[in-house]
Amino acid sequence: MQKEKVLVTSALPYANGPIHLGHLSGAYLPADIYVRYKRLKGDDVLYVCGSDEHGVPITITAEKEGVTPQVIIDRYHNLNKSAFEKFGMSFDIYSRTSLPIHHKTAQEFFLNFYEQGILNEKKTLQFFDEKVKMFLPDRYVEGTCPKCGYEEARSDECEKCGALYDPSELINPKSKITGETPSLRETSHWYFPLGKFQMRLEDYVKEMSEKYGWKDNVIQYCNSWFKDGLRDRAVTRDLDWGVKVPLPDSEGKVLYVWFEAVLGYISATKQLGEERGDPDLWKKYWQTDDTKYIAFIGKDNIVFHTIIFPSMLMAWNDGNEDKYILPQNVPANEFLNFEGKKFSKSRNWGIDVHEFLEIFPPDPLRYTLAANLPENKDTDFYWKEFQARNNNELADILGNFVNRTFIFAHKHFNGEVPARENLSEMDKEMLTMLEAAPDKIGDLIERYKLKDAVLEMMNVARAANKYFNDSEPWKTIKTDKQKGANTINICLQTIYTLAELFSPVIPFTSDKLFKSLNSKPTDWYEAGKSVLPAGTKLNKGEILFTKIDDKEIESQTNKLGEPEEEKEKFNEIITIDDFAKVKLRSGKILEAERVKKSEKLVKLKVRLKGETRQVVAGVGKFYSPEELVGKNIILVANLKPAKLFGIESQGMILAVEDAEGKLNVINLPDNVLPGTEVR
Ligand code: 2FM
Ligand code: ZN
Repeated sequence: MQKEKVLVTSALPYANGPIHLGHLSGAYLPADIYVRYKRLKGDDVLYVCGSDEHGVPITITAEKEGVTPQVIIDRYHNLNKSAFEKFGMSFDIYSRTSLPIHHKTAQEFFLNFYEQGILNEKKTLQFFDEKVKMFLPDRYVEGTCPKCGYEEARSDECEKCGALYDPSELINPKSKITGETPSLRETSHWYFPLGKFQMRLEDYVKEMSEKYGWKDNVIQYCNSWFKDGLRDRAVTRDLDWGVKVPLPDSEGKVLYVWFEAVLGYISATKQLGEERGDPDLWKKYWQTDDTKYIAFIGKDNIVFHTIIFPSMLMAWNDGNEDKYILPQNVPANEFLNFEGKKFSKSRNWGIDVHEFLEIFPPDPLRYTLAANLPENKDTDFYWKEFQARNNNELADILGNFVNRTFIFAHKHFNGEVPARENLSEMDKEMLTMLEAAPDKIGDLIERYKLKDAVLEMMNVARAANKYFNDSEPWKTIKTDKQKGANTINICLQTIYTLAELFSPVIPFTSDKLFKSLNSKPTDWYEAGKSVLPAGTKLNKGEILFTKIDDKEIESQTNKLGEPEEEKEKFNEIITIDDFAKVKLRSGKILEAERVKKSEKLVKLKVRLKGETRQVVAGVGKFYSPEELVGKNIILVANLKPAKLFGIESQGMILAVEDAEGKLNVINLPDNVLPGTEVR
């Protein structure tokens, strides 16, 4: 098998708060699984990450606490670094963007662009808070998004619809420091001409996505940006925390945090080289064509990794001999929510990684998150699911199988791998399955289908339990010892295979398994080929998983606060006259029958004043026709008729979904006469 040179990065988390489980599911655990697997395959992997230590939010936190930004970044860099370690993240380096090597790298890029003449200096109007006498960049200003009407949009970027705009376009701006309406003052900034790269970026995204199978969400996101047209982006800010603009007369100006943060991947690699006494190490990964660069991120970071960072690398490559490679894939994940709602620190909704790992070991968390990654849609962490995955899958399936096998090996085979001969059909089937598993699972991981890969891993353990049961070694050991030996040999081989296959996901458990087997991991693709020689002396089996009881889970859920409920935003406001256009009338259902070939639709006869209407309603999954007859409902009586399944519907009845997802027809009191106005 061809060995690959792989550079992997995970988004650099802001050193502005503790990372929570959502972060892990987005950009960290998937990358770590991928990297650990690649290493086992024998690929040459470098995995780089670190803290993103600049940007306005960090200065806000510092101001709130009355300390310097340095205090904040030191605190959270150390906290997050150690949380990642406990969680088993296998970074080659976890660096930080406050290091001089990073400032130098970022300034080099900026100066290079400046000297190539591609940056434009523009004077613009920026928000200025007269009360505190400072320019208000980014999140210091809040207002209404000019694109979608979201009322809590940032000055240059809308969290809700993802639009980026000029601060002067923001509607009804307010300073977040003083609450005052800020004035607009002139300031000058350097702009990167993103638009000039649009064609090349489109080609790049098209080529890479076709060749390497980018995820649909990523492609769609890029395309919507291209459709809007790429515009010049300011790459400097008026702020005194960050990487200084390396030009004369630039006092009080720093590089925009995103401009330099993405370069943090490169500077972190340089730092690693320095630490390893190999200062050119970074070039071997960043500046050679044979490197495959994969950038793991969460969905909120897509544009920076598929458009902005690549355009910066293109700009560098245009003007320099040493050329950088571009990301080959950007497998962005959606978000992980917590018990059905968004994580919220202020509302105490969720749990931080370091807190979690003070209570529970890392592997059950890794397994639970991995089995439920938000690969194609948002998913949730539920405490109950965590308990169930730990107890019913890790302990009852994997742990139990391992435990039974070791007990047999020690009790009946002297703690050694027994020799096998004259295998049965069932034995052979189990071996065939083991042999196929690394290929099957490896292929899924290569395609970033990690959730499926984890499912397949557990399926091997499930099959192993079944094999153990069906082979009945407790009987054969007495009647035909060789048969029992064959079973235990194969079960031990299976444990070896499981140790290897599971090791990207639950590395701590896997280490224990290898230790008990008195052996070491092998090449990924060899792991299913009965690696353990007969006669191998085994160590004692260790306890792999402890069951979690209901009380423990309850004590966790009791600690939670109130979840953050997102206030619904209404983009279009209507007047009373608009509303008066909708004629709502009470109606009595006289007849109801199912629409043929449709699960959902029912055809109704509804009595109004002086007429009977035919209405097709989508409530067939929730009501039988008999239940509907006699109900006094609300009908939109002046809706233009439409055909559903070829049947004309002359109106629409109102219904509301309940918490269980059942659609309830709104039911008026019996004494409301047909055709009465609903106001
Ligand atoms: O979203 C974030 O947490 C950013 N700090 C990610 C930066 S990724 C890269 F640019 F460094
Ligand atoms: Zn918006």
